[in-house]
Amino acid sequence: MISTVATTPFPDQSPGTSGLRKRVSVFRQPHYLENFIQAIFDTVDISGATIVLGGDGRYHNEHGTGIILRMAAANGAARVIVGQGGLLSTPAASHLIRSRGARCGIILSASHNPGGEEGDFGVKLNGENGGPAPTPVTDAVHEHTKALSRYRISDDAASDVSRLGESRLEEMVVEVVDPVADYAALMESLFDFERIAALLRSGFRIRFDAMHAVTGPYATEILEKRLGAPAGSVVRGDPRPDFGGLHPDPNPVHAGSLIEAMFAEGAPDFGAASDGDGDRNLIVAPGHVVAPSDSVALLAANAKLVPAFANGLSGVARSMPTSRALDRVAAKLGIPCYETPTGWKYFGNLLDAGRISICGEESAGTGADHVREKDGLWAVLFWLDILAARRQPIGDILREHWRTFGRDYYERHDYEELPAADARSVMEGLRGLLPSLPGKRFGPFEVTLADEFSYRDPVDGTLARGQGLRILFGDRARIVYRLSGTGTEGATLRVYLELFEQDPARQDLSPSLVLAELSKLSRSLAEIKEKTGRESPDVIA
Ligand code: G1P
Ligand code: ZN
Repeated sequence: MISTVATTPFPDQSPGTSGLRKRVSVFRQPHYLENFIQAIFDTVDISGATIVLGGDGRYHNEHGTGIILRMAAANGAARVIVGQGGLLSTPAASHLIRSRGARCGIILSASHNPGGEEGDFGVKLNGENGGPAPTPVTDAVHEHTKALSRYRISDDAASDVSRLGESRLEEMVVEVVDPVADYAALMESLFDFERIAALLRSGFRIRFDAMHAVTGPYATEILEKRLGAPAGSVVRGDPRPDFGGLHPDPNPVHAGSLIEAMFAEGAPDFGAASDGDGDRNLIVAPGHVVAPSDSVALLAANAKLVPAFANGLSGVARSMPTSRALDRVAAKLGIPCYETPTGWKYFGNLLDAGRISICGEESAGTGADHVREKDGLWAVLFWLDILAARRQPIGDILREHWRTFGRDYYERHDYEELPAADARSVMEGLRGLLPSLPGKRFGPFEVTLADEFSYRDPVDGTLARGQGLRILFGDRARIVYRLSGTGTEGATLRVYLELFEQDPARQDLSPSLVLAELSKLSRSLAEIKEKTGRESPDVIA
């Protein structure tokens, strides 16, 4: 039996850059999840279509999976492909959407935000290209959430997703698949698994920290079972609803135990971590954390070494706040480098049009044209394949890269949970200041450009305005300010600092030391202390 349930709209269901992300307690309100899902099905016509469904295993994942299956059946979907246990990493979901010709995908995740009853939950909609739904679609979903008066749901019990195979819910087929199998096969088609296995057999030691999130089963299957890394190379590999109480964010703070292991005497040769839903990556060399902006540049520079890119790259792209290290590589390769607003969805059109092969963000996101999401484990395998091809320590490869291209020292300073009005006042003040800056000198830095970044999509011509304030000091340095679009509590101000160093003798210094003056300038220009009371950032990534 299918029921039509009367409901009233919730005022706060605007999907941000990464879907609808809220506290679990918000999602637990009666009809809250149902309303949002119905708004999706009112926007994307799923009748007779296939949908992909899965999540990162966080608290509420199981409940959400059941509700969505019953609503998909009631809204006329022909088939839902769901990961066993309701699990799918974000990149694996993206791959399934593409390979199975699905109309859309629904991913249950709040990415790297904490999980558990007190944590966050989220719902993300992906389109048929496998990528995050573009703004016109998420805007339409938002409009529907404001006008909703009913939702449709099956009264039957949701199918058991713990067992592989097909079953029926109303007229709809529920197909429970192994969440890892297709993804692992895709990775084998992109990289030289024989070569990586040989590296691992040679005694090269790795440590992959799954942070009790979704990549555990993927990493165990690929790194340990298929590539032969010794058991125990994957740590915290069992997904838990509360991520073991951790914040599954692969940065040096939250992945502290990985950093400790990689900075200790006798550290493994290579360390890596991923986040809640498996789309982010952190790469750590013994004694050195690889900046994500460096990582994407280095992958691009070495891309020809791996089978997937043996014929070279069509182009590359980075989000605006990501350092300009990638631009230098692109210039040398003679390929275009696009600068897009923050958020993976802006890469989608460029990837679909074949204009770029590899792209990345400073926020630990790296990816390519094999799916339409950033991909944590893919980045790890890409690095391992390069290391297997070059057979040099990762630290040497990094230093060689800097000698060739120069080093972009980089830091992101986050001021978290600010009252929204304070954060707005910082941005407003800066906006007012920008026109007066060009030509001004601050110590060694002279402003060459100060503006608010906007982006015209070269494929479909859409314009995205208000994408961050940037102050350029020629090629030498840059400060960028923007407000986070993914937080669930208050406002987060992000300040991105970068400084280019071409002199090899000055390429092995501590970023915080090199960036100290720029950091001071970033605070004084924005009057951060005056407007927020904060002396220093909460997190430096
Ligand atoms: C953050 C990152 C951004 C990333 C997004 C989704 O967004 O900065 O690069 O695309 O998460 O993973 P923000 O909170 O800055 O809006
Ligand atoms: Zn994520």
